[in-house]
Amino acid sequence: MRVVIAQILAQPSDEENELKRKLNLPLFRLDKIDKSIAPFFLRVDRNGLALHSTAEISPGELRVNFSSLRFRVNNALFKQNLLKAVGARRGRRPKILDATAGLGTDSFLLANAGCSVIAFEANPVVFALLEDGVMRYKQLGIKEEKIVSNLFLKNEDFLSTESVSNEIEVVYLDPMFPSKPKAAQAKKGMAYLQELVGKNNTDAKLFGLATDIARNRVVVKRAKKSPFMSMAKPTLSFKGGSCRFDVYLLNRATLPRIDS
Ligand SMILES: C[S@@+](CC[C@H](N)C(=O)[O-])C[C@H]1O[C@@H](n2cnc3c(N)ncnc32)[C@H](O)[C@@H]1O
Repeated sequence: MRVVIAQILAQPSDEENELKRKLNLPLFRLDKIDKSIAPFFLRVDRNGLALHSTAEISPGELRVNFSSLRFRVNNALFKQNLLKAVGARRGRRPKILDATAGLGTDSFLLANAGCSVIAFEANPVVFALLEDGVMRYKQLGIKEEKIVSNLFLKNEDFLSTESVSNEIEVVYLDPMFPSKPKAAQAKKGMAYLQELVGKNNTDAKLFGLATDIARNRVVVKRAKKSPFMSMAKPTLSFKGGSCRFDVYLLNRATLPRIDS
């Protein structure tokens, strides 16, 4: 078992029971949880839902806190590579499908710019953290509620999805974990996710489905020096300090292959 739910008091709270039902994970008294039980536990407190590690040297709790992204939101958002890569600018807000939403940072930034974002996250624990973060942010005020009203969360595997709107202009993919993320918070988030979700080898399938669905482009986030995600060469790339956004414009002509 990878994750259990902490029961804080003698009797489980309504929130703990609800989480148990939703995630189908067992409850354990907090003082009984250690690494012999599971590498992670979820804990509900008055600040929402957090994931904790049972490792002896734990990097601390992980929760989705969109307020901590204030600096990025207020720092010339439209000039950031993420926004440039999806083709968002004043007067143009594409409809986006984020196929690998994770803890929702990228989806949230896109929603802040006014893009409508359908965000898929397959892992139920990661999804629960994301959903909790959105719910808490929404409660901060009318402005915050309006921002997250652009976000449509789906606890689904993108590869198994059966119905997707045919109005999606951009499919955004970020399935990989950077080996050395720069900021400490990103480091913790990615380290937890990497251990929880693990690696899979579905890049080719993700890319194929993304190109089938997107009307305008597929954008792939990669670590700065990683190879391209597919056999096709991106039309253009936006390179930043630690990551790169490869943009595949789909004018429905064949994508140029790396060896061409
Ligand atoms: C590197 S993280 C994404 C980080 C995200 N861009 C952010 O800003 O927080 C990758 C996530 O994609 C999810 N994922 C991978 N394959 C998926 C699929 N086929 N469908 C939905 N989610 C998937 C994983 O569970 C993981 O949480």
